[in-house]
Amino acid sequence: MITVETIRERHSVREYDGKPLDQAEFDALGAVVEEYARESGLDIQLVGNNPEVFNVIARFGLIRGCRTHVAFVVDGAKAADATRAAVDEVIGYWGQKIVLAAQDMGLNTCWCALCSRKKSRAVVALGKKVRLVIAVGHGKTQGFPRKTKSVGALSSVECAKAPAWFAAAMEAAQLAPTAMNNQNFKITLLSDGRTVRIDAPQSGLNAIDQGIVRRNFEIAANEIGADWRWERDM
Ligand SMILES: Cc1cc2nc3c(=O)[nH]c(=O)nc-3n(C[C@H](O)[C@H](O)[C@H](O)COP(=O)(O)O)c2cc1C
Repeated sequence: MITVETIRERHSVREYDGKPLDQAEFDALGAVVEEYARESGLDIQLVGNNPEVFNVIARFGLIRGCRTHVAFVVDGAKAADATRAAVDEVIGYWGQKIVLAAQDMGLNTCWCALCSRKKSRAVVALGKKVRLVIAVGHGKTQGFPRKTKSVGALSSVECAKAPAWFAAAMEAAQLAPTAMNNQNFKITLLSDGRTVRIDAPQSGLNAIDQGIVRRNFEIAANEIGADWRWERDM
């Protein structure tokens, strides 16, 4: 079961054991990916035996010893910013569902924008491209907690007092992975005490981050059984 505990246990892992997933793990995660692809309408593929996708020349942010990834395939044509951001937010949301399902199966992950997308063996039709991938495997460690902005910096409350469920949901939002650990989002509890707005710049990878944060926030709010809603659905 995916709970706030799953969210707390997850950290990005960049060093893996170099082995493929067991067949049972690959099949179980593949079934999750297929189900979420169907529900979201996204083209999401689980790709095994493809370590080349992580061969990049960079000084930091490298993934080592990982043979498996989840690829998000999107239209290759340059879209208007708003269109691209809308797709990115959905990728973030459903991708984070996959990340947490993998964590629950005892696997480790890392969202990965800095990769050799063209070396992914995902099925990419003409006119399409890989937007980004998620590394999946058995980590050499479980990763480590990292620095985070304070809940005060990430949220604001327009009603008299923040209810307990909002504080719990904000902890989950705070623990969400974001590109370069930027945490470029703001969550506002509106004056009715139940409607929640999320704002983020729509440039770069921020809209993906926004979708990821949304997913973490709702897991915690719903686990408590809070009566709440997003101001804007995806
Ligand atoms: C959209 C996105 C892209 C990312 N791309 C990379 C990447 O290319 N390389 C990398 O090492 N980490 C990447 N990360 C992982 C972040 O650096 C990491 O989530 C952040 O530092 C917070 O750490 P945590 O995930 O352990 O909580 C990415 C994360 C997100 C959400």
